[in-house]
Amino acid sequence: MEEKIPEQQIEATEEFAEEDNLETVTEEINLFHQFSKPGIVIIIIYIVLLIVGIAVRLPFSKVIHDAKEAGNNSSTIGEDSSSSIEATIGNEVKISGTSDENKGNVIVALNPEETFLAVLENESRKIHITMSTYGTADNNDLQWESSDTSIATVSETGEITGVSAGKCTIKVSVKTDSTISTEVPVVVRHLEEIDGCTYIDGILVANKVYSLSESYDPGGLTDETAEAFYQMTVDASNEGLNLYVGSDYRSYSEQVEIYNDYCTSYGWELADTFSARPGFSEHQTGMVIDCNTIDDAFGETAEAEWLALHCAEYGFIISYPADKVDITGYQYEPWHIRYVGVDIAKEINELGLCLEEYLGIDLKYKKYEKPWEEDSELSTTQSTDEYTEY
Ligand code: DAL
Ligand code: ZN
Repeated sequence: MEEKIPEQQIEATEEFAEEDNLETVTEEINLFHQFSKPGIVIIIIYIVLLIVGIAVRLPFSKVIHDAKEAGNNSSTIGEDSSSSIEATIGNEVKISGTSDENKGNVIVALNPEETFLAVLENESRKIHITMSTYGTADNNDLQWESSDTSIATVSETGEITGVSAGKCTIKVSVKTDSTISTEVPVVVRHLEEIDGCTYIDGILVANKVYSLSESYDPGGLTDETAEAFYQMTVDASNEGLNLYVGSDYRSYSEQVEIYNDYCTSYGWELADTFSARPGFSEHQTGMVIDCNTIDDAFGETAEAEWLALHCAEYGFIISYPADKVDITGYQYEPWHIRYVGVDIAKEINELGLCLEEYLGIDLKYKKYEKPWEEDSELSTTQSTDEYTEY
């Protein structure tokens, strides 16, 4: 039987119940107020991040899973190599391996680090190959072949030797599966010395490796250089830009003055990072122009941007790019352009090289150990014994 509650008691109970609710709501409001607005914002951000984290992790886990699946498929294993073992072994071949005992030792991909290699006649260079493998592998697992041994030969360890000027390809493949292979185009260049100056494939070279003779004196800019520069300034001007000569041809004796001044102001070691020693300056070739103001501010101008984009169309390259300092030995000079002719300038640009790389010159310049001394042997000749690698 249902217990009957007296009406008075019912009212009282309902009142209490309402009071109870009121307290609860009030508490909730108080609780709400306990958190300041920034606190609530932090909680909301936390929840959002939690959701985003889960959302991102899901597809990411799928990528990892897919990559693991791909590990069972030799054609895609290369993509997995970033998470695998990397080691450099003898003969400068890099191994990028994925350990899987069930697979034994299998090379699944070969990737050359060089997409272009220049070497001088009678000099040697190595091609660097990254292998993606299961298990271990080394250079002994590879075979090398030259498309034309009258131009370049290649040793069992991938060392390429220039035989005579020309172009060929070096193919490297896996001994046990020759379908896994890669090719690198190789250019062998001819170096000749004429009257104390060095020409590589006919290009006059003046850098930290090869100097010009003191008597080399074209007397100013060469006609080709001057004409190309003039045309470039006209075209730049049509686009509202002002390109002009800041400095161009400098004789040996002018370079003596400039270089010595810099040495006095900055010391010879710092001077060597931005000023050529007499005989080693490209300015003496008569094929170089420093555009506009010769300072870092030039690099920020619209003229510098235009020059970098268009100078190759007129046959110029930027001799000392920012990313080649360890090769050229000079700080970035966005203003210093060298005339090499349109075809070569465009090729150098497209390959993303500096002139030294393009010509196959000893890629690491030698840092001077002593200050320059006029009339000393060191001023015009370079003996490798006198220098250390930078
Ligand atoms: N500033 C360049 C390196 C020169 O002196 O020729
Ligand atoms: Zn210059």
